[in-house]
Amino acid sequence: MSRNPMVVRNVPALRRALDGLRARKATVALVPTMGALHDGHVSLVRLAKRRAGRVVVSIFVNPTQFAPTEDFGSYPRTWKADIAKLAAENVELIWHPDVKNMYPERFATKILLEGPATVGLEDRFRPHFFGGVATVVGKLFTQVRPDVAIFGEKDFQQLRVVTQMARDLDLGVKVIGSRTVRERDGLAMSSRNVYLSQDERRIAPTLYKAMKEAAARLRAGGDVETAMAAGRTMIENAGFALDYLEARHAETLEPIGSLKEGPMRMLVAAKLGTTRLIDNIAV
Ligand code: PAJ
Repeated sequence: MSRNPMVVRNVPALRRALDGLRARKATVALVPTMGALHDGHVSLVRLAKRRAGRVVVSIFVNPTQFAPTEDFGSYPRTWKADIAKLAAENVELIWHPDVKNMYPERFATKILLEGPATVGLEDRFRPHFFGGVATVVGKLFTQVRPDVAIFGEKDFQQLRVVTQMARDLDLGVKVIGSRTVRERDGLAMSSRNVYLSQDERRIAPTLYKAMKEAAARLRAGGDVETAMAAGRTMIENAGFALDYLEARHAETLEPIGSLKEGPMRMLVAAKLGTTRLIDNIAV
């Protein structure tokens, strides 16, 4: 039998609830989300359960990581379904602050990032994004003080940025990456997939197919630029407006010339109509 998780909406209530959870020295895992939960989020919760005694899920659609032209206002909000999914996973606590609790009036601090946040991938197309993510994740870490925090490889640059920040600022949180959950046809699950029309949904898995083909070329000894050029053509011919398809060093996210130079990750971002999709795979 699953019980409804406790929901707290302000920091004092969160602190009291955490004191209860930490009784008998239980370890705590945090899974930060913006809600609109799908099986990808659920897989993070399951990994959290294996890594810690208690699981806290945060649901907060963070305005500071959206540009004014982006979809903050229309971002899918599915509260009741989210709670039901988390109850079924026996999550103990949901941290659900409103914007005023997270960013009180005259809030004036932001985390400034270098390294993996400035390698010219997502940061090039969404320059406001990682500053907003790091600030809110920094706050979530200090609010919840988890032992571990689980992030999806789906947002691979975000995973690298958060890992770097936790290390650089001695936040005392072990950041753990979790593999990408896909639909049967290969499309990476995303809260934004609901924006796709039927036609777009049919085309969307091309991103994953193009990456897999390019990765196969690279593993067969092909050179990076030729493999990327073929991948880019395939994606654009399917009807996407491509932001980038790149092969990078999997740790630093810096450009990499060949598989001999270190572990490689291929990352892609492209728009289908008005919907922007991102994905990545190990090479
Ligand atoms: P959101 O897009 O809700 O994603 C929450 C977490 O779920 C992220 O760590 C993301 O990488 C992971 N995730 C999303 N789709 C996934 C999939 N198909 N497979 C596995 N994991 C997946 O990412 C954010 O929210 C925000 O930027 C946040 C970190 C919460 C800060 O506001």
